[in-house]
Amino acid sequence: MKTKVVIIGGGPAGLLLSQVLDQRGIESIVLERKSREYVLQRIRAGVLEWGSVEFLREAGIGERMDREGHLHDGTGIVWSGKNHCVLDTKKYTGKPMMAYGQTAITEDLYAAREAMGGTVIDEADDATPHGMLTDSPYVTFRKNGDEQRIDCDFIAGCDGFHGISRKSIPADVLRSFERVYPFGWLGVMSETPPLDDIIYASHPRGFALASQRNPMLSRYYIQCELDANVEDWPDDRFWDELKIRYPKEIADKIVTGPSIEKSIAPLRSFVAEPMSHGRMFLAGDSAHIVPPTGAKGLNLAISDVFYLSRALTAFYNGNDASYLESYSATALKRVWNAARLSWYLTTLLHRFPDQTDFDLKIQENDLEYLANSENAMRNLCEQYIGLPF
Ligand code: APR
Ligand code: PHB
Repeated sequence: MKTKVVIIGGGPAGLLLSQVLDQRGIESIVLERKSREYVLQRIRAGVLEWGSVEFLREAGIGERMDREGHLHDGTGIVWSGKNHCVLDTKKYTGKPMMAYGQTAITEDLYAAREAMGGTVIDEADDATPHGMLTDSPYVTFRKNGDEQRIDCDFIAGCDGFHGISRKSIPADVLRSFERVYPFGWLGVMSETPPLDDIIYASHPRGFALASQRNPMLSRYYIQCELDANVEDWPDDRFWDELKIRYPKEIADKIVTGPSIEKSIAPLRSFVAEPMSHGRMFLAGDSAHIVPPTGAKGLNLAISDVFYLSRALTAFYNGNDASYLESYSATALKRVWNAARLSWYLTTLLHRFPDQTDFDLKIQENDLEYLANSENAMRNLCEQYIGLPF
């Protein structure tokens, strides 16, 4: 087989890149290791920056998002059981956030790919990039046991943190930066009406988050021990713990119900540099992981795709390779800003096992300063809504 761009990975990054390239007349083939059913059962974050909303609309997958998504002028923060402030992105940046689940986005992307006749090969095993430093790279993989090869001009590594692409960059070329957090997030999905707003809670017993997917689908999280087991958290225990971490007037509004999904995710900050090697370009989780506290993971995948699709379009449609050459440096500027914001919010809102009373006073001071300084709030909102692409 031959195509212009082989995209390894059929998650949000890979499917969105394929969709945007197709719109611009640039053919690609997506190789996804899992089945479509498996990819679509993944539960992930669900808050979009305004730049992401606009780019998804341009990509032709904004219709259901605009119909089912929920706009938020701001995100609440409560702490010490009583205080409350709002990251009012609408007031300080003029832009709202959009609550719309990644699962829905992936469904919309698969549907758009199908409607445009895009090529997504699922259950493709052992995809392996070759010849990245040549002008004629190619990717091999196995489908139903048969060895296949796709010759191409470029390879996009959109295969997530555990994929093959980043690992194909020589160890003496790749640099990675990592911080692993000493706790996890226990997440629950329930078919109950969510709170009106997305609200973070900082509490002596740990962090909590109230979010949503649609008017009858709520998403909640509580900070938990790294070694916690889902089996130790029956629904009643989860709901009781969640409500303890919110002030009573908010906790009383939480509508509980049976969980339809319950899982524990570890938290890490990870950035790999560079995000390109010869004719292979990394986009999304293959290059970086952020703790979910700032909901930046999906938004970074989208901005990487904005930069990479612009670069490939300039190359094919404008005979200009400059954006390909600057892709890594450009994408990393935004990646590091989101990595820093996600680290900051995680550090500000969680309880760490080794925290001293001094550390707790610093956390409380930061929250008080944020709640009482327009400059502090404007600064945080500028980063929370996402820096301009
Ligand atoms: N070959 C083919 N596909 C692969 C391989 C491989 N060797 N390894 C992984 N994959 C697939 C995975 O099955 C997955 O569907 O690549 C896809 C990567 O998708 P994601 O992990 O969702 O990463 P990305 O598309 O960058 O989206 C980032 O997803 O994980 C969340 O929090 C993250 O919201 C962020 C978003
Ligand atoms: C979610 O809805 O899953 C969500 C919302 C906000 C976050 C993280 C996750 O900061």
